Amino acid sequence: MSKVTTLNEFIMDRQAEFPFASGELSRILSDIAVASKIVSRDVRQAGLVDHILGAQGEINIQGEEQQKLDVVADQQFIKAFENGGEICGIASEENDDFVAFTSDTAKNGKYVVLFDPLDGSSNIDVNVSIGTIFSIYRRTSEAGTLATLEDMLQIGNEQIAAGYVLYGSSTMLVYTTGHGVNGFTLDPSIGEFCLSHPNMKMPESGRMYAMNEGNIDICEPGIKKYVQYCQSFDNDKGAPYSGRYIGSLVADFHRNMIKGGIYIYPDTTTSPEGKLRLLYECNPLAFIAEQAGGLATTGRIRVLDIQPNKLHQRIPFFCGSKKMVEKAMSLLD
Ligand code: AHG
Ligand code: MN
Ligand code: MN
Repeated sequence: MSKVTTLNEFIMDRQAEFPFASGELSRILSDIAVASKIVSRDVRQAGLVDHILGAQGEINIQGEEQQKLDVVADQQFIKAFENGGEICGIASEENDDFVAFTSDTAKNGKYVVLFDPLDGSSNIDVNVSIGTIFSIYRRTSEAGTLATLEDMLQIGNEQIAAGYVLYGSSTMLVYTTGHGVNGFTLDPSIGEFCLSHPNMKMPESGRMYAMNEGNIDICEPGIKKYVQYCQSFDNDKGAPYSGRYIGSLVADFHRNMIKGGIYIYPDTTTSPEGKLRLLYECNPLAFIAEQAGGLATTGRIRVLDIQPNKLHQRIPFFCGSKKMVEKAMSLLD
């Protein structure tokens, strides 16, 4: 029987890859792991405990109805970041504005975290996989001062780490620090994330496509051309692909990481900028996809090259296996 490697052991072993960070990045990742274990526990209680399931009764900055678990997860992660000592500020999909932490320790923190505390929240009440997505940057403002909007609006290329937690049939944490992608599965019996998917690579191609096809007639014509290609016998596989759309980006992305596939959320006439958020969803998943050999683009430009201009910016998002994303892009005008 081979020895189990826990997330903490793995992080410590890899710490040497970040001589400049002197353990700070390791501590942030450990804080994220602890917060996500708490959220995972709460997710597993949904349906049993009244304060977990259902709508919060508020509309968030995205114009979407907040679920109770959106708020629980948001607060849990903010608490972990505020008290960890390495983070000077955060921005979250659930909050109107970014938060600059005010304690002296936090003001000296060198990093900011941007995150989607609960992704796929419309799936909570129906017991379908949901997740958390995070992105870590070094601050650009001076240490000892309050975090600024500029700290939050950095180009995706500047990420020093990114990851996601999938609360699926098991709970997994997958992350990259720019040296490949590794996945850890939570063993609830010992309360530890254990290395289960070392050095993850996204297959170059696959036979699954994920898109909300209810939108097909309100997208640009190239999208319909690509979906028709997926459904045709004249495609690269000589047979129709399988359509798979969970409606939780993390879960759709994770499936594509393992099996190969493409995820498409284009701009539509009703969401002219696209639906997914650049800072909390697209940038972190783009970083992971590229580290695993995949691609992430708006259809025209590489996601990681976009200079953000506002916190809750949305973009069209095509992400997944390299050859499939290239094919989709080739059919756009
Ligand atoms: P969130 O729950 O964080 O608001 O994200 C929902 C996102 C994403 O997870 C999913 O792929 C997509 O929105 C689903 O949108 P549609 O219901 O429009 O297909
Ligand atoms: Mn989301
Ligand atoms: Mn969310």
